[in-house]
This record gives sequence, C-alpha cells and structure tokens, in this order.
Amino acid sequence: MHSHELADEELEAIRPLVEEVASLHGSVEEADFLDNVSTYAQELPRRLRAFLNTFRLTEPSGVCLISGYPVDDTKVGKTPPHWRKKPDGYSTIEEEIFLNLCGALLGDVIAWSHQRDGLICQDLAPIKGHEDEMLGSGSERGLVWHTEDAYYPYRGDYIGLICLRNLDAVPTTFASIDEIQLDPNQVKDLFEPCFIFRPDPSHATDSEQEKAPVLFGDSRSPYVRFDPYCMDRPETEEARSGMDYLIRAIDENLTGVALLPGECLFIDNYKAVHGRSSFKARFDGTDRWLKRINIARDLRKSRGVRKTPASRVIL
Ligand SMILES: [Fe+2]
Repeated sequence: MHSHELADEELEAIRPLVEEVASLHGSVEEADFLDNVSTYAQELPRRLRAFLNTFRLTEPSGVCLISGYPVDDTKVGKTPPHWRKKPDGYSTIEEEIFLNLCGALLGDVIAWSHQRDGLICQDLAPIKGHEDEMLGSGSERGLVWHTEDAYYPYRGDYIGLICLRNLDAVPTTFASIDEIQLDPNQVKDLFEPCFIFRPDPSHATDSEQEKAPVLFGDSRSPYVRFDPYCMDRPETEEARSGMDYLIRAIDENLTGVALLPGECLFIDNYKAVHGRSSFKARFDGTDRWLKRINIARDLRKSRGVRKTPASRVIL
C-alpha cells in the first residue's frame, strides 16, 4: 500500500494551518470553505503534497494511507448515534479540515442531493436499527465490497476517510484491481457495455438501469466499476461467467486495514473496490467512527446536474 507517515516537522506545519482554516470557517460544508480549500491545501508540506500527487498521477496503488495526524479523543466527543445528530460542545472541525485539505490535492469534493441530505463530509458510524442494513451505518452485517456509487456516471474518483475512533479495530476492506492476476480470456466480456447497474440503497432515487462495462480504460491495467449487490445478472452466459470470475478473484484478494484515530485512507474508486467487516456495535458512544468525503477529479463532467460551476451538490 502507498503510505505516508507524517513527520514531526510536517505536523508542525499542518497544525497551525488547520487551526487557521478552522478560525476562518465554521464548517467544511460552507461554500466559502469549499471555494478556498484547494488554495489552503497548497500550504500543506511539500512531501505530503508530492505523496498525494504521485497517488493521483501514477496510480501506484488502489489505496493510500496517511498516518500520524493526532486526534484528541475527548475533544471529538462520543461517536454520534446518527449522522444528523451532532453532540453539543464537541468538535471534529479540525479532523474534517485535515481530511478535506488532503482530498483537495486529488480533486474537488462532491455530494449527492439524494444521499444524506447533500452533506459533503459524512459520519460513518453504526446506527441503531441499521444493524442488518447494507449501508455505511450498518454493523452486524458486513458491508460487501463495491465501487462507491457505481450506478452513477458522476461517481467520485476517490473516497477519502479519516478515522476518529476504532476501538474494536474493525477493518475497512479493499482490493486493488492491479494486484489481481486476471486471465485476459476470462475478463474480456467485462469490457462490453452490457452490465446493468442500479442505485445502491444509500440513495433515495427511483431505480432506473444504467448499462455499462465493468472494466474499462487500458486492458492491461483496467479501471473497474463493480457492485454485484446492485447489478442485475447478465443475460449472456459469457457475461455471467466473466462477472462470477471477477467476484471470485476480488474475494480471494480482499484485504483490509483497521484504521487508527487520525489515519486517512484514500481509495481510488476506479482502481479498487472497498467495504467493511461486520462488527457488534454497542451504541454507547464508543463505536467505530469515520468521516467520509467523495472527490471528483473533473467537476466539469457533472456541470449539467449542478447549479453553478463551483457548487458541489449533484442533483
Ligand atoms: Fe462505500
């Protein structure tokens, strides 16, 4: 895995930058913050900027990890019982800013009007009543690996996560397509635009089908768009066997990382699928808690479904 441990001198530069940005903005959801975040990100230490630029440009790995950012467990407060409920008197603004500063080096954050009220920076924590749901807020049922928002042509190029708490060491799972030995004959039909994708349950939209290939780009090092849980069984035998082959190959290569507080994981949503292991939530404020953002490399692609050039919410 492409990884970067923050050195002390990097933290000495990052902490005042994060504090200054926090003094200027009340929330990472503010348009003014979003308009300026890529400018602030240019003040991150050069070694960190170079690390993320390499991840973006040369695609050395499907995921990258930045570790060493300090999280004050008391200051962030208890793991919230719901993403709409923020406990008073506690703040995660600094962790959210750090995640957004790093993400701004990969692209521009996006949100969906039909998912989680259009929030940019979302809490991933178990919700009581969602234990058996195949959602980021589930727990006892593992979140099966997938491409994020696979149904949507404007899906993010990257998912950014920062861990605030993970006492039970619940792994975030992933598999990078470049680390799987694919038999070219078995996957050739996956390049055909004949696979039917449907919206995943986190989106409150009508289910219309989208036909597309599972693999695309360079056939020797393809991009992947795959969420078998939200796809129809293909009509042809060749397509079905290609899909089953790739499901098995990903299952066999799935690995994971139990994020520690302060660790940021960026997943290349074109090069890796990701999920989460199952766990038993306590719902007492100490459960696993991550923040998530979605990042697009090219905001213009979705201009037809956003209100203004700089608005981040896809309608
Ligand atoms: Fe996901």
